[in-house]
Amino acid sequence: MPQPRKIIIDTDPGQDDAAAIMLALGSPEELDLLGITTVAGNVPLQLTQRNARIVCELSNRPDVKVFAGADRPVARPLVTAEHVHGKTGLDGPVLEEPRMALQAQHAVDFIVECVMTHEPGEVTLCTLGPLTNIALAFEKEPRIVARLHEIVMMGGGFFEGGNITPAAEFNIFVDPEAADRVLRAGVPIVMMPLDVTHKVLTLRRRVERIKAIGSRAAVAMAEMLEFFERFDIEKYGSDGGPLHDPTVVAYLLKPELFSGRDCNVEIEVASSLTVGMTVVDWWHVTDRKRNARVMRDIDAEGFFELLTERLARL
Ligand code: BDR
Ligand code: CA
Repeated sequence: MPQPRKIIIDTDPGQDDAAAIMLALGSPEELDLLGITTVAGNVPLQLTQRNARIVCELSNRPDVKVFAGADRPVARPLVTAEHVHGKTGLDGPVLEEPRMALQAQHAVDFIVECVMTHEPGEVTLCTLGPLTNIALAFEKEPRIVARLHEIVMMGGGFFEGGNITPAAEFNIFVDPEAADRVLRAGVPIVMMPLDVTHKVLTLRRRVERIKAIGSRAAVAMAEMLEFFERFDIEKYGSDGGPLHDPTVVAYLLKPELFSGRDCNVEIEVASSLTVGMTVVDWWHVTDRKRNARVMRDIDAEGFFELLTERLARL
Protein backbone atom coordinates (compact mmCIF):
# COMPACT_ATOMS: atom_id res chain seq x y z
CA MET A 1 0.00 0.00 0.00
CA PRO A 2 1.61 3.33 -0.99
CA GLN A 3 1.97 6.02 1.69
CA PRO A 4 -0.78 8.65 1.65
CA ARG A 5 0.17 11.81 -0.18
CA LYS A 6 0.98 14.76 2.09
CA ILE A 7 -1.07 17.84 1.34
CA ILE A 8 -1.78 21.31 2.68
CA ILE A 9 -5.16 22.81 1.75
CA ASP A 10 -5.16 26.59 1.41
CA THR A 11 -8.75 27.78 1.37
CA ASP A 12 -11.44 30.46 1.88
CA PRO A 13 -14.54 28.44 2.83
CA GLY A 14 -17.06 28.80 1.03
CA GLN A 15 -19.51 25.91 0.54
CA ASP A 16 -17.51 24.40 -2.35
CA ASP A 17 -14.30 24.70 -0.32
CA ALA A 18 -16.13 22.80 2.43
CA ALA A 19 -16.93 20.02 -0.05
CA ALA A 20 -13.25 19.86 -1.04
CA ILE A 21 -12.11 19.62 2.59
CA MET A 22 -14.65 16.88 3.29
CA LEU A 23 -13.56 14.98 0.20
CA ALA A 24 -9.97 15.07 1.49
CA LEU A 25 -10.95 14.08 5.04
CA GLY A 26 -13.00 11.20 3.65
CA SER A 27 -9.91 9.87 1.86
CA PRO A 28 -7.33 9.17 4.62
CA GLU A 29 -5.85 6.19 2.79
CA GLU A 30 -4.73 8.39 -0.08
CA LEU A 31 -4.33 11.82 1.53
CA ASP A 32 -2.52 12.94 4.66
CA LEU A 33 -3.81 16.45 5.43
CA LEU A 34 -0.93 18.20 7.19
CA GLY A 35 -2.90 21.37 7.82
CA ILE A 36 -5.52 23.75 6.51
CA THR A 37 -4.38 27.31 5.88
CA THR A 38 -7.04 29.96 5.47
CA VAL A 39 -7.08 33.18 3.51
CA ALA A 40 -9.47 36.07 2.95
CA GLY A 41 -11.57 35.53 -0.17
CA ASN A 42 -15.20 34.47 -0.35
CA VAL A 43 -15.65 36.15 3.03
CA PRO A 44 -13.16 37.92 5.34
CA LEU A 45 -10.47 35.91 7.16
CA GLN A 46 -12.32 35.98 10.50
CA LEU A 47 -15.01 33.89 8.85
CA THR A 48 -12.88 31.67 6.61
CA GLN A 49 -10.77 30.44 9.54
CA ARG A 50 -13.96 29.85 11.56
CA ASN A 51 -15.60 28.05 8.66
CA ALA A 52 -12.61 25.75 8.13
CA ARG A 53 -12.86 24.69 11.78
CA ILE A 54 -16.62 24.13 11.46
CA VAL A 55 -16.01 21.85 8.48
CA CYS A 56 -13.39 19.82 10.39
CA GLU A 57 -15.76 19.38 13.31
CA LEU A 58 -18.64 18.41 11.02
CA SER A 59 -16.29 15.77 9.59
CA ASN A 60 -15.44 14.50 13.09
CA ARG A 61 -11.86 15.68 12.69
CA PRO A 62 -11.25 18.36 15.37
CA ASP A 63 -7.61 17.21 15.40
CA VAL A 64 -6.86 18.84 12.02
CA LYS A 65 -4.64 21.90 12.35
CA VAL A 66 -6.25 25.10 11.03
CA PHE A 67 -4.19 28.26 10.56
CA ALA A 68 -5.21 31.83 9.72
CA GLY A 69 -3.21 33.62 7.06
CA ALA A 70 -3.50 36.80 5.02
CA ASP A 71 -6.49 39.00 5.68
CA ARG A 72 -6.12 40.91 2.41
CA PRO A 73 -4.52 40.56 -1.03
CA VAL A 74 -0.86 41.54 -1.45
CA ALA A 75 -1.51 44.78 -3.34
CA ARG A 76 -5.23 45.54 -3.43
CA PRO A 77 -8.27 45.92 -1.22
CA LEU A 78 -10.17 42.68 -0.57
CA VAL A 79 -13.15 41.77 -2.77
CA THR A 80 -15.51 39.19 -1.24
CA ALA A 81 -18.40 37.08 -2.59
CA GLU A 82 -21.21 37.12 -0.05
CA HIS A 83 -23.60 37.43 -2.98
CA VAL A 84 -22.70 33.81 -3.83
CA HIS A 85 -21.88 32.21 -0.47
CA GLY A 86 -24.12 34.18 1.91
CA LYS A 87 -23.16 36.34 4.87
CA THR A 88 -21.17 33.65 6.71
CA GLY A 89 -19.66 31.95 3.65
CA LEU A 90 -21.30 28.67 4.68
CA ASP A 91 -24.94 29.74 4.54
CA GLY A 92 -27.46 26.92 4.17
CA PRO A 93 -27.44 24.60 7.19
CA VAL A 94 -27.75 25.68 10.82
CA LEU A 95 -24.18 25.45 12.12
CA GLU A 96 -22.70 25.72 15.60
CA GLU A 97 -19.71 27.88 16.45
CA PRO A 98 -16.56 25.71 16.34
CA ARG A 99 -15.00 24.52 19.59
CA MET A 100 -11.64 23.41 18.27
CA ALA A 101 -8.90 26.01 18.59
CA LEU A 102 -7.29 27.96 15.79
CA GLN A 103 -3.51 27.36 15.66
CA ALA A 104 -1.43 30.27 16.96
CA GLN A 105 1.09 30.10 14.10
CA HIS A 106 0.48 32.26 11.02
CA ALA A 107 -0.54 30.24 7.96
CA VAL A 108 2.40 31.56 5.92
CA ASP A 109 4.88 30.46 8.61
CA PHE A 110 3.22 27.06 8.79
CA ILE A 111 3.50 26.56 5.02
CA VAL A 112 7.19 27.51 5.10
CA GLU A 113 8.01 25.35 8.11
CA CYS A 114 6.01 22.40 6.88
CA VAL A 115 7.60 22.35 3.43
CA MET A 116 11.11 22.93 4.80
CA THR A 117 10.84 20.12 7.38
CA HIS A 118 9.56 17.54 4.89
CA GLU A 119 11.67 15.90 2.21
CA PRO A 120 11.93 17.74 -1.12
CA GLY A 121 9.02 16.71 -3.33
CA GLU A 122 6.94 15.42 -0.43
CA VAL A 123 4.35 18.17 0.05
CA THR A 124 1.60 19.14 -2.41
CA LEU A 125 -0.26 22.43 -2.04
CA CYS A 126 -3.97 22.42 -2.86
CA THR A 127 -5.25 25.95 -3.31
CA LEU A 128 -8.97 26.72 -3.29
CA GLY A 129 -8.91 30.50 -2.88
CA PRO A 130 -6.88 33.59 -3.75
CA LEU A 131 -3.15 32.78 -3.86
CA THR A 132 -2.10 35.38 -1.27
CA ASN A 133 -0.70 32.98 1.37
CA ILE A 134 1.27 31.07 -1.25
CA ALA A 135 2.84 34.19 -2.77
CA LEU A 136 3.77 35.43 0.70
CA ALA A 137 5.30 32.07 1.61
CA PHE A 138 7.37 32.07 -1.61
CA GLU A 139 8.57 35.56 -0.77
CA LYS A 140 9.43 34.66 2.81
CA GLU A 141 11.31 31.45 1.98
CA PRO A 142 12.07 31.09 -1.75
CA ARG A 143 13.63 27.65 -1.15
CA ILE A 144 10.18 26.12 -0.67
CA VAL A 145 9.43 26.58 -4.38
CA ALA A 146 11.84 23.84 -5.40
CA ARG A 147 10.79 21.59 -2.50
CA LEU A 148 7.09 21.40 -3.43
CA HIS A 149 5.82 18.37 -5.28
CA GLU A 150 3.26 20.53 -7.09
CA ILE A 151 0.40 22.98 -6.66
CA VAL A 152 -3.06 21.87 -7.69
CA MET A 153 -5.23 24.97 -7.84
CA MET A 154 -8.79 25.98 -8.54
CA GLY A 155 -8.50 29.18 -10.48
CA GLY A 156 -8.86 30.83 -13.83
CA GLY A 157 -11.09 30.30 -16.81
CA PHE A 158 -10.40 30.49 -20.49
CA PHE A 159 -13.00 29.10 -22.83
CA GLU A 160 -15.73 29.86 -20.29
CA GLY A 161 -14.52 33.40 -19.61
CA GLY A 162 -14.83 34.80 -16.10
CA ASN A 163 -17.34 34.61 -13.28
CA ILE A 164 -16.63 37.84 -11.37
CA THR A 165 -15.88 39.98 -14.44
CA PRO A 166 -16.32 38.93 -18.07
CA ALA A 167 -12.60 38.13 -18.16
CA ALA A 168 -11.65 36.96 -14.66
CA GLU A 169 -12.38 34.08 -12.33
CA PHE A 170 -12.87 35.03 -8.66
CA ASN A 171 -9.77 33.44 -7.02
CA ILE A 172 -7.39 35.03 -9.51
CA PHE A 173 -9.28 38.32 -9.65
CA VAL A 174 -9.10 38.86 -5.88
CA ASP A 175 -5.30 38.71 -5.83
CA PRO A 176 -3.88 38.86 -9.37
CA GLU A 177 -0.42 39.96 -8.18
CA ALA A 178 -0.19 36.87 -5.95
CA ALA A 179 -1.38 34.62 -8.79
CA ASP A 180 1.17 36.20 -11.12
CA ARG A 181 4.01 35.47 -8.67
CA VAL A 182 2.90 31.88 -8.17
CA LEU A 183 2.52 31.20 -11.91
CA ARG A 184 5.98 32.60 -12.56
CA ALA A 185 7.69 30.78 -9.68
CA GLY A 186 8.57 27.63 -11.63
CA VAL A 187 6.69 25.15 -9.44
CA PRO A 188 4.71 22.44 -11.29
CA ILE A 189 1.07 23.59 -11.42
CA VAL A 190 -2.16 21.82 -12.25
CA MET A 191 -4.99 24.26 -12.87
CA MET A 192 -8.72 23.58 -12.53
CA PRO A 193 -10.35 26.50 -14.35
CA LEU A 194 -14.04 27.29 -14.80
CA ASP A 195 -13.82 25.29 -18.04
CA VAL A 196 -13.72 22.17 -15.84
CA THR A 197 -15.78 23.27 -12.86
CA HIS A 198 -18.72 24.41 -14.99
CA LYS A 199 -19.05 20.78 -16.10
CA VAL A 200 -19.73 19.44 -12.60
CA LEU A 201 -23.19 20.73 -11.74
CA THR A 202 -25.01 20.10 -8.50
CA LEU A 203 -27.98 18.46 -10.24
CA ARG A 204 -30.92 17.68 -7.93
CA ARG A 205 -30.39 13.92 -8.14
CA ARG A 206 -26.74 14.35 -7.15
CA VAL A 207 -27.51 16.51 -4.12
CA GLU A 208 -30.31 14.11 -3.09
CA ARG A 209 -27.85 11.20 -3.11
CA ILE A 210 -25.54 13.13 -0.81
CA LYS A 211 -28.41 14.02 1.50
CA ALA A 212 -29.54 10.38 1.57
CA ILE A 213 -26.25 9.37 3.21
CA GLY A 214 -27.96 10.75 6.29
CA SER A 215 -24.89 11.67 8.40
CA ARG A 216 -24.56 15.13 9.95
CA ALA A 217 -21.70 15.97 7.56
CA ALA A 218 -23.52 14.80 4.44
CA VAL A 219 -26.83 16.48 5.30
CA ALA A 220 -25.03 19.75 6.11
CA MET A 221 -23.14 19.47 2.83
CA ALA A 222 -26.36 18.91 0.86
CA GLU A 223 -27.92 21.95 2.55
CA MET A 224 -24.84 24.04 1.73
CA LEU A 225 -25.03 22.97 -1.90
CA GLU A 226 -28.73 23.81 -2.07
CA PHE A 227 -27.94 27.33 -0.86
CA PHE A 228 -24.86 27.76 -3.04
CA GLU A 229 -26.48 26.66 -6.28
CA ARG A 230 -29.36 29.17 -6.24
CA PHE A 231 -27.07 31.98 -7.39
CA ASP A 232 -25.57 30.06 -10.29
CA ILE A 233 -28.87 28.54 -11.37
CA GLU A 234 -30.20 32.07 -11.76
CA LYS A 235 -27.02 33.29 -13.43
CA TYR A 236 -26.39 30.46 -15.89
CA GLY A 237 -29.93 29.11 -16.19
CA SER A 238 -28.52 25.64 -15.51
CA ASP A 239 -29.96 22.78 -13.45
CA GLY A 240 -27.54 23.14 -10.51
CA GLY A 241 -24.46 25.23 -9.78
CA PRO A 242 -20.84 24.40 -10.62
CA LEU A 243 -18.93 22.70 -7.82
CA HIS A 244 -15.50 24.28 -8.20
CA ASP A 245 -13.08 23.44 -5.41
CA PRO A 246 -13.53 19.67 -4.91
CA THR A 247 -12.15 19.16 -8.43
CA VAL A 248 -8.71 19.87 -6.93
CA VAL A 249 -8.94 17.05 -4.40
CA ALA A 250 -10.65 14.74 -6.89
CA TYR A 251 -7.64 15.19 -9.18
CA LEU A 252 -5.32 13.91 -6.44
CA LEU A 253 -7.53 10.89 -5.90
CA LYS A 254 -8.45 10.06 -9.52
CA PRO A 255 -6.46 12.03 -12.09
CA GLU A 256 -7.94 9.82 -14.80
CA LEU A 257 -11.23 11.72 -14.43
CA PHE A 258 -9.58 14.77 -16.01
CA SER A 259 -7.99 15.78 -19.27
CA GLY A 260 -6.08 18.86 -20.28
CA ARG A 261 -2.76 20.00 -21.67
CA ASP A 262 0.45 21.75 -20.69
CA CYS A 263 0.30 25.44 -21.55
CA ASN A 264 1.77 28.79 -20.80
CA VAL A 265 -0.52 30.72 -18.46
CA GLU A 266 0.02 34.38 -17.65
CA ILE A 267 -2.03 36.66 -15.43
CA GLU A 268 -3.23 40.10 -16.46
CA VAL A 269 -2.38 42.53 -13.66
CA ALA A 270 -2.53 45.93 -15.38
CA SER A 271 -5.62 46.39 -17.53
CA SER A 272 -8.67 47.66 -15.65
CA LEU A 273 -10.89 45.89 -18.17
CA THR A 274 -9.37 42.41 -17.92
CA VAL A 275 -7.42 42.37 -14.63
CA GLY A 276 -7.22 38.86 -13.20
CA MET A 277 -7.64 37.18 -16.58
CA THR A 278 -5.75 33.92 -17.03
CA VAL A 279 -4.28 34.15 -20.52
CA VAL A 280 -3.86 30.51 -21.53
CA ASP A 281 -1.80 29.68 -24.60
CA TRP A 282 -3.97 26.64 -25.28
CA TRP A 283 -3.03 26.45 -28.97
CA HIS A 284 0.69 26.97 -28.33
CA VAL A 285 0.82 30.03 -30.52
CA THR A 286 3.75 31.49 -28.57
CA ASP A 287 7.01 29.97 -27.44
CA ARG A 288 6.41 31.08 -23.86
CA LYS A 289 7.30 28.46 -21.28
CA ARG A 290 4.62 25.88 -20.48
CA ASN A 291 4.13 26.54 -16.78
CA ALA A 292 0.85 24.80 -16.00
CA ARG A 293 -1.19 21.73 -16.86
CA VAL A 294 -4.55 23.29 -17.65
CA MET A 295 -7.54 20.98 -17.34
CA ARG A 296 -10.48 21.29 -19.68
CA ASP A 297 -12.62 18.17 -19.32
CA ILE A 298 -13.90 16.02 -16.50
CA ASP A 299 -15.96 12.86 -16.14
CA ALA A 300 -18.77 14.50 -14.14
CA GLU A 301 -20.53 11.26 -13.17
CA GLY A 302 -17.25 9.75 -11.99
CA PHE A 303 -16.53 12.89 -9.99
CA PHE A 304 -19.88 12.85 -8.15
CA GLU A 305 -19.57 9.11 -7.58
CA LEU A 306 -16.22 9.71 -5.87
CA LEU A 307 -17.47 12.68 -3.84
CA THR A 308 -20.57 10.82 -2.64
CA GLU A 309 -18.61 7.71 -1.74
CA ARG A 310 -16.04 9.66 0.29
CA LEU A 311 -18.63 11.83 2.06
CA ALA A 312 -20.25 8.60 3.21
CA ARG A 313 -17.01 7.65 4.97
CA LEU A 314 -16.92 10.70 7.25
C1 BDR B 1 -13.95 30.06 -6.82
O1 BDR B 1 -14.39 31.24 -6.16
C2 BDR B 1 -15.04 30.93 -4.97
O2 BDR B 1 -16.25 31.63 -4.91
C3 BDR B 1 -15.21 29.45 -4.91
O3 BDR B 1 -15.03 28.98 -3.58
C4 BDR B 1 -14.13 28.92 -5.83
O4 BDR B 1 -12.91 28.71 -5.14
C5 BDR B 1 -14.74 29.88 -8.11
O5 BDR B 1 -14.51 30.97 -8.94
CA1 CA C 1 -12.79 28.73 -2.71
